[in-house]
Amino acid sequence: MKVKPLILLTQTTCQKVLAIKVLNVKFCTFNVMEQANNYIISGGTEGKKRLNLLSEILYPYTKALLENNGITSGMSILDAGCGGGNVSVMASKMVGNTGKVTAIDFDEQIIALNQREVVEKGITNIQYSATSIYDIQFKNEFDIAYSRFLLSHLTEPRTPLKKLTEAVKPGGTIIVEDVHFSGHFCYPPNEAFGQYVELYSLAAKKRGHNPEIGPELVSMFKEAGLKDVAFDVIQPVFASGDGKWMAYITMDKIKEAIENTGVADKNTIAVILTKLKQFTKDEDTIISLPRIFRVWATKAN
Ligand SMILES: C[S@@+](CC[C@H](N)C(=O)[O-])C[C@H]1O[C@@H](n2cnc3c(N)ncnc32)[C@H](O)[C@@H]1O
Repeated sequence: MKVKPLILLTQTTCQKVLAIKVLNVKFCTFNVMEQANNYIISGGTEGKKRLNLLSEILYPYTKALLENNGITSGMSILDAGCGGGNVSVMASKMVGNTGKVTAIDFDEQIIALNQREVVEKGITNIQYSATSIYDIQFKNEFDIAYSRFLLSHLTEPRTPLKKLTEAVKPGGTIIVEDVHFSGHFCYPPNEAFGQYVELYSLAAKKRGHNPEIGPELVSMFKEAGLKDVAFDVIQPVFASGDGKWMAYITMDKIKEAIENTGVADKNTIAVILTKLKQFTKDEDTIISLPRIFRVWATKAN
């Protein structure tokens, strides 16, 4: 694939539509078994810090989602694409000592950090494994298979959904949370924020990923033969605090992917980051997280 490494970001006013001219960029689809370097957000220690922050913000929402889907002591839970292991740890407390959590992620570094953390905290009912979702072979083992912000990072999300479905027991529950990235907003409209949303989407789509997957999950669940498919949508919005910084932090963590995929150059990215920081610091602005779809269903008996 030949990509000219520059995107022209034209100057616009806040209200004008962001104009991005891509030079000879070909969208490509990577092969099925995606490797860690195909994930657009930096992983490892830095990635874990970002995921910890995101998980703190989402903690009450995800806790209620799991509770409403009947998580209880003694259950076995699969957390696929567990990242920093925050939901794994939350679920491990909910299922207690008689239950267990199996958590997988293909980022070996983050899995090693998670393993060290559970030893330090004395948590004994989580088993972490550095595995790709495409490679898991679980059959009828779990009461709940859960995955947050994984399917939008994959080229073939239907295969992982099938894997999650196979992994749960008949009558078990599949829960997926994922983004509808274009629903990410700020107020008042801001050029740098618009460029961040656009560049994230471009870098993801160039890898064959789908940052718009949120609403599509509902029909994907039905196509997968799941019963009682239900969903809701959440979107935390912030005028201050850590949540307001998620857009800036994410832009910072995707800058290499953006540069490597040739959708913007280093200088352009640096300018966007500076402007986004100013906008985030401004006490009169608000910034949302991306719109998040949460879909759940039952595997037929
Ligand atoms: C945005 S993070 C979400 C992490 C966690 N679920 C959370 O909500 O905090 C996406 C995670 O998916 C992992 N990932 C991406 N592709 C994967 C694959 N094919 N198999 C397993 N994990 C994958 C990444 O390493 C990353 O940790």
